[in-house]
Amino acid sequence: MTDFDVINPATEKVVETVRLASAAETDAAVERAKRAFQVWRSVAPDDRARLLRAFAATVDAHVDELAALEVANAGHPIGQARWEAGNVRDVLTYYAAAPERQFGRQIPVPGGLDVTFAEPLGVVGVIVPWNFPMPILAWGMAPALAAGNAVIVKPAELTPLTARRIGELALEAGIPEGVLQVLPGAGPVAGARLVEHPDVQKIVFTGSTRVGTQIMAAAGRQVKRVTLELGGKNANIVFADADLEKAAATAPYAVFDNAGQDCCARSRILVERTAYDRFMELLEPAVQNVVVGDPGDPETEVGPLISAAHRTKVASYVPEDAVAFRGTAPDGPGFWYPPTVLATPAYDTLPAWHDEVFGPVVTVVPFDDEADAVRIANDTPYGLAGSIWTRDLGRGIRMARGVEAGNLSVNSHSSVRYWTPFGGFKQSGLGRELGPDALDAFTETKNVFIATD
Ligand code: NAI
Ligand code: MG
Repeated sequence: MTDFDVINPATEKVVETVRLASAAETDAAVERAKRAFQVWRSVAPDDRARLLRAFAATVDAHVDELAALEVANAGHPIGQARWEAGNVRDVLTYYAAAPERQFGRQIPVPGGLDVTFAEPLGVVGVIVPWNFPMPILAWGMAPALAAGNAVIVKPAELTPLTARRIGELALEAGIPEGVLQVLPGAGPVAGARLVEHPDVQKIVFTGSTRVGTQIMAAAGRQVKRVTLELGGKNANIVFADADLEKAAATAPYAVFDNAGQDCCARSRILVERTAYDRFMELLEPAVQNVVVGDPGDPETEVGPLISAAHRTKVASYVPEDAVAFRGTAPDGPGFWYPPTVLATPAYDTLPAWHDEVFGPVVTVVPFDDEADAVRIANDTPYGLAGSIWTRDLGRGIRMARGVEAGNLSVNSHSSVRYWTPFGGFKQSGLGRELGPDALDAFTETKNVFIATD
């Protein structure tokens, strides 16, 4: 059992010292979850729906408190943190409609009646990273609960505070004891134990590809279900026929939002060669105008990086001779890093071009035509998201079909909407979260044949 100092990344002060769960405490949580599962699965669909709506309403009544906690814990700008708490409410509300609509099928067969049931899995472990502690928790938790599972959330070591509060709010809303447990703990201890525990039927993991591959391998030994969301190296592709002003004005936010700590960050900007110089002229002031600073200030657009170690890693990706221009960042305490734009003919030799930097660093490169843009965008083992800017609708569709990624947007940078499926191609992950089919990832299909002859 160890203690962990939770640090405010904008001030470097300790917010709270949090106790981390041991492997034995993780086992005890699984035992509680197993018992709670038997209770929760037998709650009638309308009551389960009512309880999830009550949970959503309780979160809604605490949006400001949750947002303030995230400002202190993760350094997220207050406006963004309010959106994140609101997203927990919205995802709960969306999946609260599911228990009463969890249809099976009746399939015509000779000699009897054949029906299918969507059965809950049992105990689901949701392992959450530090970059979006509240939304990523909700995307696993809400459909898992709606389907009738018991859930254990293991938040990231760095950011346990909002998760812990959401666990308390569930109890306040009337969700039965043990149905949702939040277990602050170390990845290799509590997280690994959830993955190894034979009574945990499913792991939802968002985080690094390194840990994701370990989890997939360990889960394989028990044929344990996994959903993996593992990061990206996403292209923002700008054609010369696009609204260049709008493309340049929005490009900084598509990569620098959340200080670039976003698996959907568009950290590669590809610009059609004939528009390259004009685009760079427009991009420079847009980058310099990004407001980086005090996360408590409603005017702030970008806060600090999550930790000193992470800032060191991000900085190691920036060779001074490849920097085209930079934005600003505060001096003094806090893990600040200015928005940084790299451009060099030798871009392919930059580690920042290939790796997920997870910081406010973007590389801009020119391309010649559609085929060239598709080739450059797909030259990565990742495949999560991407954007295409063009006024030619046919080209927009061709490009969206050509880029190997789970979430593309044309003339927009949106990736995640709770109404639509979210997840990655290639090494960006396995399975999909959110959208109308999310309960499929938290249920097994059971087929029952009843003889009539
Ligand atoms: P990480 O993958 O170590 O952490 C993510 C979660 O997994 C945390 O809750 C952690 O406690 C848990 N974990 C760690 N080791 C585990 C294990 N052996 N078994 C079970 N759970 C375990 O990510 P980290 O080290 O915080 O970040 C490293 C890099 O990963 C980032 O710089 C970024 O590139 C990428 N990343 C991507 C994310 C995404 O949204 N896809 C989120 C976080 C990180
Ligand atoms: Mg790690």
